Amino acid sequence: MRTVFWEDDELKMIDQRILPARFELISYRGHKEVARAITDMVVRGAPAIGAAAAFGLALAGFESNAASRDALTADLESAAAVLKAARPTAVNLAWAVDRLMRNARSTKGSANDVRQFVLNEAQRLADEDVEINKHMAEHGAALINDGDTIIHHCNTGALATVDWGTALGVIRTAHEQGKKIHVLVDETRPRLQGARLTAWELEQYGIPYEIISDNMSGHFLKAGKAQKVFFGADRVAANGDVANKIGTYMLALAAHDNGAPAYSVVPTSTIDLSLAHGDLIPIEERTPSEVLDIQFQGEPVTPKNAKARNPAFDVTPNRLITGIVTENGVVYPPFEENLKKVVK
Ligand code: MRU
Repeated sequence: MRTVFWEDDELKMIDQRILPARFELISYRGHKEVARAITDMVVRGAPAIGAAAAFGLALAGFESNAASRDALTADLESAAAVLKAARPTAVNLAWAVDRLMRNARSTKGSANDVRQFVLNEAQRLADEDVEINKHMAEHGAALINDGDTIIHHCNTGALATVDWGTALGVIRTAHEQGKKIHVLVDETRPRLQGARLTAWELEQYGIPYEIISDNMSGHFLKAGKAQKVFFGADRVAANGDVANKIGTYMLALAAHDNGAPAYSVVPTSTIDLSLAHGDLIPIEERTPSEVLDIQFQGEPVTPKNAKARNPAFDVTPNRLITGIVTENGVVYPPFEENLKKVVK
């Protein structure tokens, strides 16, 4: 089962807001609804939102009544802007939409040919994502030893991609290779992608795990109870600074201080060579209610009028990153020089 797929003239996506309590699919027939689903995090994870937006653009083609190619292209351009605005940090979103628009503009044929072409391209992009993940997983699994305990942040599995996953895909492949691995799953406040989604996936794959609160990682690394740290990324700058789910920076600091390698696993579509360093990456600020609306033992945790901050991502400086695993191999420092070689 894919997280994002096209069936019966509709885009279907797993509703990630309600897992693991319920497994439900939602169908989409309009690009604006797809953009809303990305913002609301029905679908989330950098490659998954890229694929969702690609299918959203295909839907926009079928929604448009344009008879001429030029009129259709104009409708696609405005849909592309709506989709790209859905979330700012993961570059895969803009990358996917821009790739489809570029190819659509250069293809030949009638308006209907272009409509079908955009759908085919979206399907191609989704299929490629799975293939790329499998390549990354092979490269990354070589970094894992039998008996390793690995700390993993956020959700980077099949749910964050079209299928298989980035960092969790690496762990899954290492497990399939017969390596005995234990995963300490950061719960990943505030939206709990680790506790809800990564734990759910690890159960499906039969990989042993325990959930830890985010502030426990330093303790396990210092005690030598975790050997490696794996996470994904939403955008990697040209110098190897990594924007990923909030909390990644603190985890990478703790890993560095204790001599544990920290790997970021990314398709090359997540590498943004146009940005010289990580401070240029736009960081999404989400509603404070994601931080405040929690309960402990059935009671609200925070005072009624409490305020909160909620940056959804942070930037880990390149000096804390041991290696960046891509479908074209593992990249080591100097990242500025070596990232260019893997982005084709
Ligand atoms: O806010 P989310 O859940 O979309 O954030 C997802 C992450 O930060 C992932 O770690 C990232 O997309 C890389 S893994 C595919």
